[in-house]
Amino acid sequence: MNGRPRFGIWALVHGSRGALQDPEEPFDASWERNKRLVLAAEALGFDSTLIAQHTANPYDDEWDELEAWTAAAALAALSERIEIIAAIKPPLYHPVVLAKMALQIQHIARGRFGINLVNAWNRPEYEKAGIPFAEHDERYAYGNEWIGVVEPLLRGERVRFKGKYFQVTDYQLRPADHFRARPTIYVGGESAPAQVLVASYGDIWFINGQPLAEVSRLIASVRAHPRSGDPLRFGLSAFVIARETAAEASAAYAHLAVLAEKDAAIRTRQAANTDPAVVMKHTHAAQTPRIGTNGGTAAGLVGSYEDVAKRILAFHGAGIELFMLQFQPFEAEMQRFAREILPRVR
Ligand SMILES: Cc1cc2nc3c(=O)[nH]c(=O)nc-3n(C[C@H](O)[C@H](O)[C@H](O)COP(=O)(O)O)c2cc1C
Repeated sequence: MNGRPRFGIWALVHGSRGALQDPEEPFDASWERNKRLVLAAEALGFDSTLIAQHTANPYDDEWDELEAWTAAAALAALSERIEIIAAIKPPLYHPVVLAKMALQIQHIARGRFGINLVNAWNRPEYEKAGIPFAEHDERYAYGNEWIGVVEPLLRGERVRFKGKYFQVTDYQLRPADHFRARPTIYVGGESAPAQVLVASYGDIWFINGQPLAEVSRLIASVRAHPRSGDPLRFGLSAFVIARETAAEASAAYAHLAVLAEKDAAIRTRQAANTDPAVVMKHTHAAQTPRIGTNGGTAAGLVGSYEDVAKRILAFHGAGIELFMLQFQPFEAEMQRFAREILPRVR
């Protein structure tokens, strides 16, 4: 059983998710916009928001980028009910400092906070700052040690840890989490080491948007890993284009696809900056054409209201608990989803 489906929105940390040059959605990655967006999502009945972490804008460093952790803290204070998830790339924060920040935000959010552990694809984000961008599996080895320190600290344990990357002789964080055993741990990443990581430390595995058969295969694969404690749960990223009829949805898709073409040069640059060993990159390469990030429309949530609701229920039947959604123009399409799809699913 995976309860009722939950629905979240990707915060617009680096601008639009589908096409960056859309007259109906001018570029806006500001705090003000994201604050309004997340509070509107909460009012519409969405359950969660994911704030991706990129220090500089991954498309163009001249463009604005929302800072994930400070924004998460502010959103935690301003919202009442919505879950707030902030992404984290381990080399950017020492595990003790990050665990402290997570516990503080959990306190501000009164138990609604989660972290999304991701192990990076964008080379210049680290390298231009002088932070080593280790090769793929070593990034995961580092991430494993890092979460091995963070997780017990989040549970309020006294930690003594001696590893290759971290030596923590004696640390405990107070106040501990008053609301849950600890903040929720999500993991994003598709490779074999990502699967080991989530089976060992994660509560929920975020899967990039892709067809149901692929998602089912990935769920079966990660479930085969040794694990103690509660069963692993699953989330799916998807870009939604829903209309009254399938023909109208196809037309809306075609319209966005034309706009997305204008970003071809940006995508080429992004591809060049991506570590070729990242599995997500290969999954995405097999999914063209596609609109949105992290799989986007490859999850197939493009169609009539009835069909989109049915596909969501099929994913839910396969084990997906949380749908982390993208729209464009975001506010209007998010409202449409709340009006037309949520009642059909619920
Ligand atoms: C739902 C989801 C959210 C992600 N968020 C971020 C993010 O905020 N920042 C980032 O740099 N990468 C993010 N990633 C990408 C991961 O960095 C990437 O999947 C991973 O490091 C590549 O490893 P892999 O080879 O295991 O796929 C996200 C991935 C998923 C599935």
